[in-house]
Amino acid sequence: IRSYFKLKVILNLYLILFTSYTIFHRFIGKLQALSSTIEPHICEQISLVPAQKNYCDNHPKIMVRVRDGAQTAISECQFQFKNDRWNCSTADKRQVFGKVLQRGSREAAFAHAITSAAVTYEVTRACSRGHLIECSCDGRKRGSSKDNTGKFEWGGCSDDVQFGMSVAEEFIDANEIAQHDGRAIMNLHNNRAGRKTVKAFKKRKCKCHGATDTCPLRTCWEELDEFRLTGNYLKRKYDGAVRVTVRQGSREMTLHTTVSSHKPPTKRDLVYLEDSPNYCIRSEATGIFRSLGTSGRECNLTSKGIDGCALLCCGRGHDTSRVTRTRKCNCRFHFCCEIRCKLCTETLDVYTCK
Ligand SMILES: *[C@@H]1O[C@H](CO)[C@@H](O)[C@H](O)[C@H]1NC(C)=O
Ligand SMILES: *[C@@H]1O[C@H](CO)[C@@H](O)[C@H](O)[C@H]1NC(C)=O
Repeated sequence: IRSYFKLKVILNLYLILFTSYTIFHRFIGKLQALSSTIEPHICEQISLVPAQKNYCDNHPKIMVRVRDGAQTAISECQFQFKNDRWNCSTADKRQVFGKVLQRGSREAAFAHAITSAAVTYEVTRACSRGHLIECSCDGRKRGSSKDNTGKFEWGGCSDDVQFGMSVAEEFIDANEIAQHDGRAIMNLHNNRAGRKTVKAFKKRKCKCHGATDTCPLRTCWEELDEFRLTGNYLKRKYDGAVRVTVRQGSREMTLHTTVSSHKPPTKRDLVYLEDSPNYCIRSEATGIFRSLGTSGRECNLTSKGIDGCALLCCGRGHDTSRVTRTRKCNCRFHFCCEIRCKLCTETLDVYTCK
């Protein structure tokens, strides 16, 4: 009887343990479901290659930042190209990681670099803000160091750009790993150029401790600078992009300039394989970055640049219309702290491409 009793206790204990285990298990499951409801089905919402899908399933919160990066990339691209014939018009928002442009053009090079850069940026910033469990501040920035001003201690939260770069590499490059063609080599090069550019725009911020203004103790940390600087830099690299061909070497495919007297591209240069279409007329290229043509675009009558009516309208001419616009004007600063403006109405001529 005693042994039967003993057995029953053990059985009960086991039962309790077992049920609490299942409850625990269900609870964790719910918790996971809860955290992914921040962005439900994010992994199904965008078209992904298997490696990306896998990454997405395992790191849904990082994925939210990858998506933020994609959006940052598009708005930065549209800012940089607002006066160009190709104004970075995008098609389907959900196809962000589809083939960016069918053609291996300069625009494709820029699109890849800016996307890779923006993902690096958004993930890195999210790490520093403590939004992700996978990362935080850069643990390598510890102890004392020196700069022009003198000695300082690393303190505060330095951006862990290396982590952001690794996510961008793992995720964006996954599009290309399976393909061993020239276009893949081009994309990988431009992706890396984008990541490296973000890393180059850091700023050091410092704080003084102690009562005197001699700053006896200085602590410093490093942050990524505004993303606009990366955008500006990549736009300049777009203007000076290097045309290349891809050759099969003994072990791997390598990039070569088409003009043999030119220097080979550096790691931060953007490279492209094919000339661009002129973007004057609508093109049916698939992918998100496409050409809508310049018909209907507003142009500048007096400018001799690409935003001028002559170049932007590709010689088709322009229409003139008189419009009345209301804008804020005579803005004054009032103490404290308000800015009050008047509304001015102006009538002006607006020129649009035929
Ligand atoms: C780009 O230009 C097209 C017309 O060609 C216009 O419909 C579209 O709104 C523009 N996009 C941006 C972001 O300015
Ligand atoms: C048009 O171009 C001229 C010359 O480049 C410039 O001074 C002017 O501000 C531009 N106008 C607008 C509305 O952008």
